[in-house]
Amino acid sequence: MLILNAGQIAHLDSISTNSPISGQDMIDRESNVFPSGMGILIEDSKIKSITDSQSLQSEYASDWDGEFSSSALSIIDANGCAIIPGLVDSHTHLIWGGDRSSEMRLRQSGMSYKDVSGIGGGIQRTVTSTRKMTLEDMVSKGLSRVNEASKYGTCAMEVKSGYGLDTDTELRLLEAASVISRNSHVAIYPTWLGAHDFPSEMNRSQYIDELLSVQLPEVSSQGIARWCDVFCEDGWYTNEETEDIVKQAKEFGLESRLHVDEFVDNDGLALASELGSVSADHVAKSSPESRQMASEVGTMQTFLPGTPYVLGSNLDLPFIDCIENNWSFSLATDYNPNCRILSLPIVANICCTRMGLDPLAALIASTRNPASTLGDNNITGKITVGGLANLNIVWSNDVDGWCQTPGENPFTHSIISGDIV
Ligand code: NIG
Ligand code: FE
Repeated sequence: MLILNAGQIAHLDSISTNSPISGQDMIDRESNVFPSGMGILIEDSKIKSITDSQSLQSEYASDWDGEFSSSALSIIDANGCAIIPGLVDSHTHLIWGGDRSSEMRLRQSGMSYKDVSGIGGGIQRTVTSTRKMTLEDMVSKGLSRVNEASKYGTCAMEVKSGYGLDTDTELRLLEAASVISRNSHVAIYPTWLGAHDFPSEMNRSQYIDELLSVQLPEVSSQGIARWCDVFCEDGWYTNEETEDIVKQAKEFGLESRLHVDEFVDNDGLALASELGSVSADHVAKSSPESRQMASEVGTMQTFLPGTPYVLGSNLDLPFIDCIENNWSFSLATDYNPNCRILSLPIVANICCTRMGLDPLAALIASTRNPASTLGDNNITGKITVGGLANLNIVWSNDVDGWCQTPGENPFTHSIISGDIV
């Protein structure tokens, strides 16, 4: 495949390692973006060359008339449109059943997320409907959501269990994730979130016992999750419980990515940093001291702006502080029954229009930074020779256009491993 006449290309390949980009480098266009006029040659799902469009055309398609592709070579005329890497969504609750639409009116009447949960709504309600799903139901719901996300440019997605809260359903959710993974262009990275809440049929310590002595060993022996996650938040799992679960999971070979400091600062980010979690997610209320510590130990701060957006809370995430202090961060959708956002461009749009985030920094936070938490050399979130051809062609000549069409798909083409999706 040959892509000719590209607009700007956000290659994000200024640093040759797969480590995250932070600070002023996140807004440096010189080192992250090629100017217009280049082309990309793709062979066997990988990028073979990125060079000026004219010379690619004369070498590979000198008789191209602007219309036709041959059977051996398909040609996309980008026509001045910008190109960005495939997006990486590093926090989703992809698989669940049921409907929580009625909760909006409860919140509008003054109830908080925690209040709604207290009367059996929220996670508990989704658990009831998810337990009734067969493996096939889970796969079919999950696949249609993944396909939707791929239309919005996502090429890789982390997927959590967490709506089973019993061993059978948690395992079924993770099995569904692996079936989805085998049947989708999008790369899937599974996380065990048995500790999302407490099931109504047993008490706290009984459930934690089940988590540690039944679920975890089973998840580990089946090899169906890469990380463990805990909803560490006032009203759900305490810091002590979180620490126990994460330490045990580590013994069973699972690293951690955690839900922390969503509604209040409980030192969850500090805990995640001490425990060496690859990522601490939400982190809306974390202190600057915790952020500094996370940055020093290499725990990624993953912001989930869709959640305060749908809950109608303040949109005051400290992106500018992160850039000024050189704290690396990511963005993710947190797709869940209460936050039905599968589009990273929309998440980035909220950040840019409401929190002053630079669109290029938002792009880095939606590509190479989350990719660095996945530990997969194939998913790098950048456009580089030798790397997988995961890219999106943007409607605009300017890479910043990737997150400026909240009601429209910003992409003319999305390509995963060299295939147009
Ligand atoms: O990350 N906060 C915990 N888990 C999800 C929401 C789960 C739900 O409301 O169903 C989150 O926002
Ligand atoms: Fe979440």
